Order: sequence, then C-alpha cells, then structure tokens
Amino acid sequence: MIYLRIGVLTGGGDCPGLNAVIRAVTRTAISHGDTVFGFKDGFKGLIENRYISLNHDSVSGILIRGGTILGTTNRDNPMRYGQIVNGEKVYSDMSGVIKENYQALGLDALVVIGGDGTMRMANEIAEKTNIKVVGVPKTIDNDIVGTDLTFGFSSAVDIATEALDRLHSTAESHHRVMILEVMGRDAGWIALHAGVAGGADIILIPEISYNIEGILNTINNRIKRGKHFSLIVVAEGVKTPEGDSIFKDIIKSDIDLVKLGGISNWLVKAIEAASSIECRATILGHLQRGGSPNSFDRVYCTQLGAKAVELIYQGKFQEMVALINSNITSVPLSGVKGIKLVDPDGQLVNTAKQIGISFGQ
Ligand code: F6P
Repeated sequence: MIYLRIGVLTGGGDCPGLNAVIRAVTRTAISHGDTVFGFKDGFKGLIENRYISLNHDSVSGILIRGGTILGTTNRDNPMRYGQIVNGEKVYSDMSGVIKENYQALGLDALVVIGGDGTMRMANEIAEKTNIKVVGVPKTIDNDIVGTDLTFGFSSAVDIATEALDRLHSTAESHHRVMILEVMGRDAGWIALHAGVAGGADIILIPEISYNIEGILNTINNRIKRGKHFSLIVVAEGVKTPEGDSIFKDIIKSDIDLVKLGGISNWLVKAIEAASSIECRATILGHLQRGGSPNSFDRVYCTQLGAKAVELIYQGKFQEMVALINSNITSVPLSGVKGIKLVDPDGQLVNTAKQIGISFGQ
C-alpha cells in the first residue's frame, strides 16, 4: 500500500466554509492512511516552507468556524511575488521555489482552495512546474466560471436576506425607501438571490442597465397601491446610469482589488434629488464574508473537499472540483477563465420579473 502526502492551502479573500473544506480534505485523506500538510498564509507558506500537519485533532471543531485555520488568506501572486530587498520592493517568480519545497516535503498533490485569481495561479504554477494540483472554487460572489455554484455564496445570501428582512419593518415604519448594498464586484448573484429571497421591490445588478426614472416608477406605483415603502438591493459593482463606478477608496495596492462601495449612497442622493421620497442606505460589507457557513455550505464544502481527494486518488490533476447540474464533478483548471455573470434572460431574472420585481428599467 502506498500512502500519499497531500498539501492544502487557502488563497484569495476569505469566505464561509474554508475550514469545512480543509476538514473534509483532511478527514478523507487520513482515513486512507495518507498524510496532510496545511500551508500557512496561502502560497506564502508554500514559498517560505511554513506548514502544519493536519490530523483529526487539528480539524476537530472547525466545521462551523469562519475564516481559515491556515493562518491568513491573501491575494499574493507567487509568480509576481513582492519582497523588500535593500529597502526596495522587488517582484519575482517563485514557482521554482514552490516546486523545490513541494518536492522536499515529498508531496504527491496540492489542494488549492480559492477564487478565480487563485485558480489561475494554481494552473500557471502547475503548467510551469508540473506539480500536481487540484482546485476547490470559493467566493461569496459565485462568479467562477466552470461551476454552477461556489461555496460561501449560500451563506452570504442568507446574511443579505436577513438584512433585507430587518430593513423591511423599519422601511415600513417610516415610509422610507431602504437601499441595501451587497457584495458582487462584477456579477449580481448575491443581489439577485437575496433580492428574491428577501422580497425586494427593485434589484440592481451590474448585468442589467437601469435608470432613475425606472426606479421612481416602481416606487410610485407601490405608493399608489398603498405601499409607502420600498426595498432596493444593489450589487456594489453596479455603476451609475452614466457608467461611472463608485469606489470606497481609489488607492490600489499591487495585490489588493480596487475597493468598490458607495453606489447605495449615490442612489439615495439621486432618488431624493428627483423626488420627495426619503431614502436610507445600508452597506452590508464584510458581514457577508465572516462567520459560520450555513448548513447548505457545510454539506457542500464537505462534498467538495472529499471530491478533491477523490480526484487525487483517480490521478486527475490540474482539475477544479465543480458542481454541474447538481452533480459534484470536475473541470480542467485551464478552462477557468473570465467571470460567470448573471444571464439577464435567465430563469431567476425572469421569475423575479414575473412576480413584479423591477430591475430599474
Ligand atoms: O471577491 C469577493 C469579495 O468579497 C468581493 O465581493 C468584494 O468586492 C471583495 O471581495 C472585497 O475584498 P477585500 O476584502 O479585499 O476588500
């Protein structure tokens, strides 16, 4: 019997369910007698050879924990790895170092849990070094190509839905328009699902253009029906009708994403300027990413982690675990490119329209 040595790391922004995947990878592998190593702080740990052994004890109790037990998670790119040398920041390709450390530890495979950026990095490293990689896709944004669903999304939708439920009663009590801004840089999945689940009157997503008149029409039609309040949910990536993005902060570091945020405040001003309707904005922010995964994500993460190890046993590498048509399967990592957007003519958008939810047109 040959026992395997498997590495695991988490990359990108955090997301509910990272630990549930780590636990499933570990428990599946050790139940076959294999050894699992968890690299600390994403690819950084692999570059700097910092890891911990993962066993029954180290993954005990982590199913419900948010964040990652593997130190921090970050967007460092190992192929453009920034280090301070003689007081200056220099960038180098560390894929060679990764290969050396992978071989020195006698690894047979590496499970990389992360978002679209991390999946692309994992693929590039695998292509450059021939190390054996399996990806597990995560992001609350649900925008990774190749899988119908990313873990963390369902938990984020639950939090956004609860926020809408709470805004509902205060909106009604004050006859106000409440605007909830949720995450979703490029895609409006969270806004769409939370909007339907939380009974929003208007859903604004980056994939569907809107105008202030369309929003006012919906609000005024509700007022005519005796509904003196409305709920709007907007994805942070929605632009103004003129096409301008709204940023929380325009300063961009070499690895950080441009910080979006504030379209809800912009909408408050635009609606109040064009009407006598009183509006308030709530930006949900990182509340959507922190904390426990919901029961759906716990089950899903367990399936994804176990599948990642199954792929290793089948010798299927350079693959990303995926959910396709309710089936846990895998797709080539090389095909994980671009962003999975909401289809403006898709079923859920149509259902929302059929029940009278407006998309601000
Ligand atoms: O990509 C996931 C995400 O949560 C986006 O929805 C959001 O715009 C971004 O990360 C925020 O990143 P950070 O935590 O680095 O500000």
